[in-house]
Amino acid sequence: MSRALRFVVALVAGLALLTWAASFLVRGATTRWFDRDLNLRAQLAVRGARQALITHWHKDPSTDLVDLLTEMTRDERIMAAAACDLDGRSLGSTDDFPPQFLCRSPSQVAGRSGAAPAPPWRLVAALRGGQVHASALPVLDGETTLGYIVLVQDRSFIGRREAQVRWFLAAAFGILAVGAAVITMIAARLAWRGWSAELRRLLRGGPQRPEFQPLLRDVRDLIERIATEKDADNQDGAWTAQRLRQTLDRHFHGEKVVILANREPYMHERAADGGVKIVHPASGLVTALEPVMRACSGVWVAHGSASADRETADAAGRVRVPPGEESYVLRRVWLTAEAEQGYYYGFSNEGLWPLCHVAHTRPLFRGDDWKHYQAVNQRFSDAVCEEVDSEDPVILVQDYHFALAPAMIRRRLPRATIITFWHIPWPNAERIGICPWRTELLEGLLGSSIIGFHTQFHCNNFLETVDRFMEARIDREQNAIVHLQRATLVKPYPISVEWPSRWSKQTPPPAECRAQIFDELGLGPDAILGVGVDRLDYTKGIEERLLAVERLLERVPSLCGRFTFVQLAAPSRTIIERYRQLNETVEAVAARINQRFARPGYQPIVIKRSHHEPPTVFRYYRAADLCYVSSLHDGMNLVAKEFIAARDDERGVLVLSSFTGAARELTEALIVNPYDIDEASAALATAIEMSAEEQGERMRSMRAFVAEFNVDRWAGRMLVDAARVRRRFRLRGRLDAQRGDIATVP
Ligand code: G6P
Repeated sequence: MSRALRFVVALVAGLALLTWAASFLVRGATTRWFDRDLNLRAQLAVRGARQALITHWHKDPSTDLVDLLTEMTRDERIMAAAACDLDGRSLGSTDDFPPQFLCRSPSQVAGRSGAAPAPPWRLVAALRGGQVHASALPVLDGETTLGYIVLVQDRSFIGRREAQVRWFLAAAFGILAVGAAVITMIAARLAWRGWSAELRRLLRGGPQRPEFQPLLRDVRDLIERIATEKDADNQDGAWTAQRLRQTLDRHFHGEKVVILANREPYMHERAADGGVKIVHPASGLVTALEPVMRACSGVWVAHGSASADRETADAAGRVRVPPGEESYVLRRVWLTAEAEQGYYYGFSNEGLWPLCHVAHTRPLFRGDDWKHYQAVNQRFSDAVCEEVDSEDPVILVQDYHFALAPAMIRRRLPRATIITFWHIPWPNAERIGICPWRTELLEGLLGSSIIGFHTQFHCNNFLETVDRFMEARIDREQNAIVHLQRATLVKPYPISVEWPSRWSKQTPPPAECRAQIFDELGLGPDAILGVGVDRLDYTKGIEERLLAVERLLERVPSLCGRFTFVQLAAPSRTIIERYRQLNETVEAVAARINQRFARPGYQPIVIKRSHHEPPTVFRYYRAADLCYVSSLHDGMNLVAKEFIAARDDERGVLVLSSFTGAARELTEALIVNPYDIDEASAALATAIEMSAEEQGERMRSMRAFVAEFNVDRWAGRMLVDAARVRRRFRLRGRLDAQRGDIATVP
């Protein structure tokens, strides 16, 4: 049934119901009115004849009295009349007076015995097929009641009149229904045409009318959502650097992206021979972001911390990188040793780093460090604002070094789209509560348009923290926080590695790598090699890892002499006491185990404590039988994914701590609790014994996952979300500007 027909049917049915209810009410009311009318007429008739009645009352039996009664029946409604004395005897009546009413009370009429009639009374009764109204009215002579007159009145006209009224009512409502339906449909049609025309005009960018703005906003939101969903739909097929570039072109039309990260992707170091060498720092953040930056161009703002950084940059601290490719700009910010101490070593790495990692190192919060952290965040924020080329740029703020920067940048660039990615875990609210400046940190972060974490779990922790410490509204459905009338989305974006890795392409095939590394280590052809690759950091569980190797050699003595574990350990944050201690402990544990199991020409643990460039790391990945990642707590851990990226021979086993973000994705790894030395050593034994087929199956599955969920997808998803936020903001900005309001970021 068409919508119009349905509307008409509903309208007619409604009006029919209304007519029925109205006629029901009308019926009761008209009956009462007509009966009252009959009564009045009867009273009038008796009152009019009163004097004559008094005169003739006692003449016995008076023909004049009967004549008088007959005179009274001249009224068109009075059918018969009778005169009765006070004892109920008839003094005379008209010819056709119905005997049942003659000088009788209503109870007597109804067939019941009773006392003498006591007027006035009236009743309605059926007579010869029609209804009559009978009433007895007293005849008064002064104060004395002489008797009474009984009048019988025709009542059949009431039914006829009621039928007429009902018919009129039905006709009136019917006409009303049809009229209302027609008028409503014409009005709706005209309004619909008007709305469509207005909406079309607005969507084509015509002048806006305030009453249409909410609707327009909804329509545009819908269009955007469909566009975004289409983006998501189109995401089958691999994400590549080229596709990331296309996404950027499509959404940002070639605008540059500005990244703020403390660690620079290329460090210019003064070499021993007096020249300058380029160092790729050991940093998961750099591993992930550098390929993204090469695809996106733009500017990377970072701390120029290496010994030859100044001399290789221009006066503004800018240098084009990567060397030989020069596809983006690295803008270096210089810090005094004191600022670096307070901001980087102090607040960032002795405060926030242990605070966010559940790795049993006490966070240290010093007032001076906090001051430096604030000042340095401002310095970097200013540098970012110098690098942007529009009023609403896209800025990617990275990690715990810059929790205050989003709000600082927002103050200078209120319309910027700021995506902040927190590369390390976000612990629960109770733990964050330790930090004396937790509110300031949260306020700083909420300057972002989007805050990303590796996992939904860390997003939840963040929302809980804000809920606990801030006056903000948490929109759990949208995963957003509304603070100071501005919304910040909180979303998980699991980070990943480049696929295929450019280092893989530059590294010899696995068999060759294995031969080279075995040769370098002096291992026999039947040796078994395990590898660990980390910065020397207490969150990485390196001591626990070595203890697991020790336990393995205890439980499988035949491995002694065959199994070697090489730990590539990049010195990190060495000025900090806790890192120095860690270095000593690791050395001591390794020395003890080596002493216990060493044989001539065999050393179970080899610690290579120095910086290793990616090609070397990749050679180890390819040479190894297994890689053990034993982090005590880790946001994601990209060593695990790099190992998988390196193993295009589909061999090698990954033993992975359950306390890494990666463990949620790489489920075909052997997942262990690194604190459980027995369990970890058993997993190492399983890895060593694993057949080539099983290794192949597990590795294939993990490689397929990392190939699909690579770093281009990570960046692409964030940038598509950023584009959506920016589009919405621009749109709202326009609408708000028309209203004369201040625009707010969605
Ligand atoms: C972690 C942090 C990064 C940092 C890296 C290396 O992965 O999340 O922000 O760059 O460690 O640490 P470093 O202090 O040497 O930059």
